[in-house]
Amino acid sequence: MNSQTTQILTAEPADVARAAALLAAGGLVAFPTETVYGLGADARNGQAVAAIYAAKNRPSFNPLIVHVPSAEVAQRYVVWSEAAAQLAQAFWPGPLSLVLPLRPDHGLSELVTAGLSTLAIRVPAHPAAQALLRAFDGPVAAPSANRSGRISPTSAAHVLADLDGRIAAVLDDGPCQVGLESTIVGLDGPPVLLRPGGVPSEEIADLLGAPLLTHDTTAPLTAPGQMMSHYAPKAAVRLNVTQRKTGEMLLGFGAMDCDLNLSPSGDLTEAAAHLFGFLHQLDATGRPIAVAPIPNTGLGRAINDRLARAAAPR
Ligand code: TXA
Ligand code: MG
Repeated sequence: MNSQTTQILTAEPADVARAAALLAAGGLVAFPTETVYGLGADARNGQAVAAIYAAKNRPSFNPLIVHVPSAEVAQRYVVWSEAAAQLAQAFWPGPLSLVLPLRPDHGLSELVTAGLSTLAIRVPAHPAAQALLRAFDGPVAAPSANRSGRISPTSAAHVLADLDGRIAAVLDDGPCQVGLESTIVGLDGPPVLLRPGGVPSEEIADLLGAPLLTHDTTAPLTAPGQMMSHYAPKAAVRLNVTQRKTGEMLLGFGAMDCDLNLSPSGDLTEAAAHLFGFLHQLDATGRPIAVAPIPNTGLGRAINDRLARAAAPR
């Protein structure tokens, strides 16, 4: 999939405008934040978000952090609270991500949250990130701009070493200051430290006037990467189905007769973009769900990983 020419842009206004236009067109743009370089996509565009997973070669759908230019804009997507306001006031813009309940009218691709009802949201301080977010004027989903299993990039050279030819552009504005990912705090219940990072957790606890709960990262339902297992359809899910049973709803792939088709043309990026939304729709029918075989290559691996979780005995 090294099929595009990756543009190397600067933090000059004309280049920032160019980067924003690429995002608006559904392209992937790597950009600096004070923590690490992020691989950005329009968080409302399922195809663009799916392309992040393809470029990173990520074998599973972890929920992504959405980047916005201010706490005010953040409140368009998440349900705000006293604790959120306190932490935002003290640490935004900066290396802190807050996990808050999604607003019903959020308008984001379900691939961003991996089907969860919460969203990780962050206001980066880096001037180039701020400029890009303001020029784009929309929510930007961005994991670290490295291939899956590699080290997070703190320079444009690191980004290119992993992703040259796989993304539309990288906005190069030198090395990152913090060099460590953002601290993630869950605020959809008692405050909990989901990932240590750029803001020391003691400072957060001091400000909230209470110790933060911490996660036992070995506990299956609490590690951030595993949170998606919270969402599984209520109905039974059967995989690799070529012949549906009476009463089953069939989720198809490729040219076939079915109730909903992830991608009639057999395109895995399109299929990934539809996955969570279609599972929700089929689940709402209350009938068992059968899923056609999905090729286990490229993004197909992430799709099959998610489907295996949905079908797991519970
Ligand atoms: O500093 C950073 O946070 C960088 C820059 C680019 O902003 N981004 C970053 O993203 O580290 P990523 O995708 O590598 O890590 C995101 C983490 C994952 O561990 C994910 O599971 C967790 O955030 N996460 C995202 N949404 C979540 C949610 N709703 N609940 C719990 N954890 C969540
Ligand atoms: Mg990462």
